[in-house]
Amino acid sequence: MKNIAIFASGTGSNARKIVEHFRKNETIKVALIISNKATAKVLDMAKDNNITTLIINRTDFYKSTSLLEDLKKRQIDFIALAGFLWLIPAYLVKAFPNKMINIHPALLPKYGGKGMYGHHVHEAVFKNKESESGITLHYVNEHYDEGHIIFQAACPIASTDTPIDIARNVLALEHYYFPRILMSLLNNE
Ligand code: GAR
Repeated sequence: MKNIAIFASGTGSNARKIVEHFRKNETIKVALIISNKATAKVLDMAKDNNITTLIINRTDFYKSTSLLEDLKKRQIDFIALAGFLWLIPAYLVKAFPNKMINIHPALLPKYGGKGMYGHHVHEAVFKNKESESGITLHYVNEHYDEGHIIFQAACPIASTDTPIDIARNVLALEHYYFPRILMSLLNNE
């Protein structure tokens, strides 16, 4: 059995898609959902699906390795960041070499970096009158949105599209591809 931990700070619609995708899988399991926000909706989804949750605080995350011990204890093999907004510290990057991926709601290397998350990304794409946006799945390193790119998919932007339209189309790509790319990475390990 391979165990996935999902890190998420918000709604968790991607986390939900991943949970649904692996629900009946006999070799891959979402074993843990971690959030930095005690009120994050993703935690309700985890509880509804009987998935163990863990809430982390900033000091422990950056100044101790207690999370790492927890991940080892729970035999976590792979980490998926699904709307997790804290920079990943070096000790965690080193512990999961090519075993930690992030989803970003734009075509990196454009529109990445600190502060580029969620609606901020879509508003910047809109302001620049881009003709397309999309998603990027990449390995995680110590810098925001800079790890090796694994997969990208694009969607066109019509001249009448608002940032909300862009967000909706990008999210649909995320929901489709994130679980599938995750599965192919885990199956090919
Ligand atoms: C997703 O669109 C994800 O790409 C984005 O946060 C959203 C989370 O939505 N992540 C970033 O912007 C990271 N820089 P969700 O909670 O509904 O899955």
